[in-house]
Amino acid sequence: MNDFWIAPSILSADFARLGEEVANVLESGADVVHFDVMDNHYVPNLTIGPLVCEALRKYGVTAPIDVHLMVKPVDRIIPDFLKAGASYITFHPEASEHIDRSLQLIKDGGAKCGLVFNPATPLDVLEYTLAKVDMILLMSVNPGFGGQKFIPYVLDKARKVREMIDNSGRDIRLEIDGGVGPANIAEVARAGVDTFVAGSAVFGAGQAGDPNRYNSIIQAM
Ligand code: DX5
Ligand code: ZN
Repeated sequence: MNDFWIAPSILSADFARLGEEVANVLESGADVVHFDVMDNHYVPNLTIGPLVCEALRKYGVTAPIDVHLMVKPVDRIIPDFLKAGASYITFHPEASEHIDRSLQLIKDGGAKCGLVFNPATPLDVLEYTLAKVDMILLMSVNPGFGGQKFIPYVLDKARKVREMIDNSGRDIRLEIDGGVGPANIAEVARAGVDTFVAGSAVFGAGQAGDPNRYNSIIQAM
């Protein structure tokens, strides 16, 4: 099992001070920057693109940037995120016409690749992709917004995927995304998750402008 990673989702950050916000959470102990890309087509919201990823790299962010593509189609935007410095690029299988080709596009570009499963999306496609993915992301909310309630049945899915990963003998990160915070993170970890996305739980903490506002929430997780 990998060591635990906390991956704050910048969807809930103060975008007027994004560089500082990301530097603060990383200084407070976060491991990865979870970067939510939404196109107002695959999900009913519109967020950020490769330019912002590039800007974070230029600002000096060296931590892994975990790009979660909630876009359709997928392939056209992958090269731009590879150029912009994405470390992980994950996408929803429903959003790709050719899942294996999209995964290979990410790998060939030097990033780690992964698939994202909405709460009700079955895991079947892992039968043919477990040998290729570096990350499996389980949505514990329906994608599109931060601050939603954790969907508990996803814990069973996490247990199943943990068993699949362990049986595969491959080094694959199991990430969960949506409604995770100090109150439920231990239960989620017990289900076999090793990478925890948290948006509102992290960026909703503390007083705006306080450089140490995230210390306690990150440590609590
Ligand atoms: C939702 C995004 C999540 C979201 C998590 O579609 O993929 O990453 O920002 O936010 P919280 O932790 O507030 O549920
Ligand atoms: Zn996400």
